[in-house]
Amino acid sequence: MKYSKIMLGAALIGATASTIFAQETLRSLAEERGRYIGAILNSEWFNNAIESQFEEIHKTQFNAVVAENEMKFDATEPNKGQFSYAKGDKMVTYAKANKMRVRGHALAWHSQVPGWVNNIRDKKQLLDVLKNHIDNVVGHWKGEVAEWDVVNEAINDDNNHGWRSNGSVWFQTIGAEFLDSAFVWAHAADPDAELCYNDYAIEWGLGQGSKAGFVVDQVKRWKQNNIPITCVGTQTHIEISHETTPQNVRALAKALAEHDVVLNITELDVGFPQGSAGSLGASDYAKQGHLYRQFMDVFLEEPNMGEFMIWGVTDAHSWLDGQQGKTQGLIYDKQYKAKPAYDSLIASLKAHPASEVKSPYKSAATPDTTVQDTTTQDTSAHDTTAVQDTTVKDTTTQDTVATPGPVVSDTGNVGIRRGSATLTEVRMNLVGRTLSIVGASNAKVQVFDMRGRPVYSAVTSKGSVDLSAISDGLYVVRVKVGSKTLERRVALR
Ligand code: G3I
Repeated sequence: MKYSKIMLGAALIGATASTIFAQETLRSLAEERGRYIGAILNSEWFNNAIESQFEEIHKTQFNAVVAENEMKFDATEPNKGQFSYAKGDKMVTYAKANKMRVRGHALAWHSQVPGWVNNIRDKKQLLDVLKNHIDNVVGHWKGEVAEWDVVNEAINDDNNHGWRSNGSVWFQTIGAEFLDSAFVWAHAADPDAELCYNDYAIEWGLGQGSKAGFVVDQVKRWKQNNIPITCVGTQTHIEISHETTPQNVRALAKALAEHDVVLNITELDVGFPQGSAGSLGASDYAKQGHLYRQFMDVFLEEPNMGEFMIWGVTDAHSWLDGQQGKTQGLIYDKQYKAKPAYDSLIASLKAHPASEVKSPYKSAATPDTTVQDTTTQDTSAHDTTAVQDTTVKDTTTQDTVATPGPVVSDTGNVGIRRGSATLTEVRMNLVGRTLSIVGASNAKVQVFDMRGRPVYSAVTSKGSVDLSAISDGLYVVRVKVGSKTLERRVALR
């Protein structure tokens, strides 16, 4: 076939252009928007039993990662006191090499708990086991795991605003206080990690008795009691017929935003009934793409959403087929070819310019180059007896009274002490333009520009201040609680 000179020229220009302007990916578009789009590393990856295309696609398309099974309790502490980190370390190494955010999944879950734990019936013994597990596992990956699913699937499926009891050694032996304690201990083990409560079927609206409504109630109680939760994970294991769920996720995000808590999509897949596997056509995959797009639209439009995690890369490796009676729920087919759902995600990202997408991580993501926090250590003598009981009493059913924040004793134990608390740990979290002061309710907040000129000052009794009135830019925030001062440089956008 003979090309005209013009055609050949055009072809060359086209080729050059495409090499100069690298192909847009989910990852590149997410990073422009200060957001994270990620996928699991399947257990086959950990066992070097997956096709080479998997990793190539994974690191090209995603900037966040989570282990499908390898950071769960049975994988990391298979025997009492014997910790196994090799597979988790493999993922953390991969993530570092590919500049990805790491999610830790999951510390306290009723499933995949090793037998030696499931047999414990003594409350104090099981609390000690849980604390030791969290101290070791969170401590091992301190500074490397950005966010933990501290507790997974602790609410029952009876729509009666109740905790899961069946099959949960944690609830049956300890009671609901295991949740509060797990968050306090995880925070002590890595104060900079985001801490999530993760669950499924919370995409069904906030109506009376709903699981999502119960989650919001617990978040409100936890925040009032200074339990250091920062995020909720909605797993979002959806079927193709569940068309109302994207808007329900939006409603949940808005409800959580009122408590300064991030909502992350943590395990998305949109499955077809298994029996339909052989008869799916273009319209089915287009409908799947439409649902994926709606979730991405909601994700990008809600300022307190940060991560969009898909529970797999390719339909060739998905839990759906073997355990869930569903199929083909992901964005690449079994031959690693991108499906319409992939194109829909790209289209949604491009329809939401970076200038319009807020991020719970953007302002906090600015490297904090200030000197270390200037919190003056509380040198007063500690009533160490009070911190011997480091568990947090569950107040689910009681009227919640503001319980003082975590107390760090000289021995490093963390607990919640009733009555007058001596707070020695104060932290500040900036989500969007809301500055939360964790660990103290009364604080004086001052904001200075980079030339030291005061631009804002307020005394707060509700543990947070709104910095919306300050124009974008770099500032130094100073928080004074009693004799203690905390100072951080932040970027306000
Ligand atoms: O590692 C063993 C292997 O040695 C053995 O030969 C094989 C056959 O018995 O089993 C392997 O363990 C399996 C494990 O996945 C690792 O592949 C377990 O049987 C199997 O039950 C386990 O399934 C995982 C499931 O959680 C367990 O509940 C799925 O891969 C995983 O995708 C799924 O993920 C959960 C999230 O953690 C929480 N949200 C729901 C989601 C789907 O269930």
